[in-house]
Amino acid sequence: MPNIAVIPGDGIGKDVTIEAVKVLETMDKLFHLDLKLNHFDYGADRYLKDGTTLPESGFKELRDNYDAIFLGALGDPRIPDMKHAKDILLGLRFRLDLYVNHRPVKLIHEKLCPLKDKMPKDINFVVFRENTEGFYVGIGGNFKKDTPDEIAIQESVNTRKGVERIIEYSFQYAVENGLSHVTMSDKSNAMQYEGGLWQRTFDAVKERYPKIKTNHYYIDAIAMQMIKKPEQFEVIVTNNMFGDIITDLGAQLQGGLGLGASGNINPERNIGLFEPVHGSAPKYAGKNIANPMAAILSAQMMLEFLGFKPQSDVISEAIEDAIEHDWTPRDLGGSLGTVEVGDYIVRYIEENVAGKLKGI
Ligand code: NAD
Ligand code: IPM
Ligand code: MN
Repeated sequence: MPNIAVIPGDGIGKDVTIEAVKVLETMDKLFHLDLKLNHFDYGADRYLKDGTTLPESGFKELRDNYDAIFLGALGDPRIPDMKHAKDILLGLRFRLDLYVNHRPVKLIHEKLCPLKDKMPKDINFVVFRENTEGFYVGIGGNFKKDTPDEIAIQESVNTRKGVERIIEYSFQYAVENGLSHVTMSDKSNAMQYEGGLWQRTFDAVKERYPKIKTNHYYIDAIAMQMIKKPEQFEVIVTNNMFGDIITDLGAQLQGGLGLGASGNINPERNIGLFEPVHGSAPKYAGKNIANPMAAILSAQMMLEFLGFKPQSDVISEAIEDAIEHDWTPRDLGGSLGTVEVGDYIVRYIEENVAGKLKGI
């Protein structure tokens, strides 16, 4: 019985989570997945009410009693330093050691791509973003704060083990998925210490995978290449911050942040955190405007992680069908609301379950 913790979070995170949960409940009912969903109110409102971000007991509960966590998004203009998100989102990534941030970039239909003449076969790759190190560790400080002489230091931490395991995972993923090419990206021309470690580690790991072709781009060049020739990519591996940046770019190649899904995992642990790539988009919150597809595709990744790959395929089919027939929200050129898109996906699953059950 998979136990799933649901943290809707803030802004449109709440709107899209309702739809993802609707889809999960439908999948549970029709395919008898025996999912157990439990909601947690961690987020901006709770933090502003009683100062709670992620309490120690709450962290332990998630760690010890759950198979997966589903998160909407965090971020609220009333909390400019994102204190709550640091504790909840980065806290879970770091403390559960979810070192792989898996972010697929897959064009579902050519009409959604901002690049001319690009087809679904041209945009289909994954980004593996290192998820536990780099600039995100929060080491640094301010000196002479709020004076004209202020100094701000933000350190990027890169360990051999941390770099090696994400690169290794990328090669493993390529092998297991019949792919033949891994690209590494860094900024070793300007930041020689961390970049040098990434370069040397990539060179060492690739020796162990002689059948996999490799190349390297500096991070500025890969941003350009993702636009110029996205069809060259199969697997991209990069550090925490660069991975954050290029996956928003990758999401737009698919049609926008309304479609970018992600999983935060540690292949050696039996827990993963699944969430859309987008944030809480406060200006759209509660208005039935946000696209729930990124959240629903993240829920699909979660079901796959929980061992329900054959069943979960119906979810991407439903999304493909919705896009094909322009049953989409505003960001994809349609006129449906968040709820109506969720309803459409649910209906598609209900109507196609019989055929799917035969194949499982
Ligand atoms: P954002 O991703 O929230 O939104 C940027 C823009 O993308 C929106 O204005 C909107 O035009 C579009 N967009 C995003 N998601 C959409 C959706 N589902 N449907 C339709 N359009 C969508 O990024 P931001 O504005 O830079 O950040 C807002 C807040 O979210 C900030 O507090 C930020 O720190 C936080 N954030 C959180 C996460 C997370 O929880 N994983 C991720 C990114 C940003
Ligand atoms: C993401 C977000 C987060 C990140 C923020 C909210 C800390 O942008 O998940 O992509 O930078 O990892
Ligand atoms: Mn981001």
